[in-house]
Amino acid sequence: MTKKQDRYQPDHNHAKIAAAQNFISANLPIAPVPSIQEIRLHKAGPQSGLWRLAEQDQEFGSPYWAHHWGGGLVLARYLLDQPEVVSGRRVLDLGAGSGIVGIAAAKAGAAEVIAADVDPYAIAATGLNAAINGVTVLPILTDLTTGEPPVTDIICVGDLFYEAALAQRMTAFLDRCLTRGIEVLIGDPWRAHLPQSRLRLLAEYAVPDFGAATSSRPSGVFAFESKTPRQCRGDEDQS
Ligand SMILES: C[S@@+](CC[C@H](N)C(=O)[O-])C[C@H]1O[C@@H](n2cnc3c(N)ncnc32)[C@H](O)[C@@H]1O
Repeated sequence: MTKKQDRYQPDHNHAKIAAAQNFISANLPIAPVPSIQEIRLHKAGPQSGLWRLAEQDQEFGSPYWAHHWGGGLVLARYLLDQPEVVSGRRVLDLGAGSGIVGIAAAKAGAAEVIAADVDPYAIAATGLNAAINGVTVLPILTDLTTGEPPVTDIICVGDLFYEAALAQRMTAFLDRCLTRGIEVLIGDPWRAHLPQSRLRLLAEYAVPDFGAATSSRPSGVFAFESKTPRQCRGDEDQS
């Protein structure tokens, strides 16, 4: 484990992450990702028995890392199609899940990829998935939204606007990142809590979303932009 990782990963999580990696390797088959044939990921199937993890671990949460999400799929497709967006740059994949966005960034030639998530199982999955795709991604277990903006050139956010409170926290954090000159890209299938007034659509692709293995829905890649003077005035009026 590198020093950078040690800074973020409390000791008790090392064993959990190692056990999770054993479980994932044994029970989640590796398959090409729909609409992104360049990437293969461990994905939960009917025989995976994720309930066994839940039985063993009271802290086990929703296994987002074991599935495909429209936001991550569209953002990964975009980075692979437009490699100049990340090539030679430091990339943070925020809310990495399976690590799909960070893996795409690494494949597109990013100079460094860090993949942050609050779920140790996502950290385990990202490490395994990066390895099977032959790329280097540094998974870190931490909630970056509570602190200072990280040292990076571009933050890629795949599908993190699925809950109101989380969306609000993310938006505030990403605002702080913008003020430090960090570029922010968001991939999202137009979920309800997407801060649409702050987004500029860069591309749209039809990709499958969680729970829809066979159908696709339009999903966008957006640049997250600073508030306009009018939006800032609106904030002042409300305070
Ligand atoms: C819907 S999944 C999307 C995963 C991946 N980006 C994708 O698109 O496939 C959301 C992920 O964000 C993570 N997450 C939620 N809150 C977070 C936070 N404050 N910081 C980092 N990750 C977070 C969850 O644990 C989960 O892995």
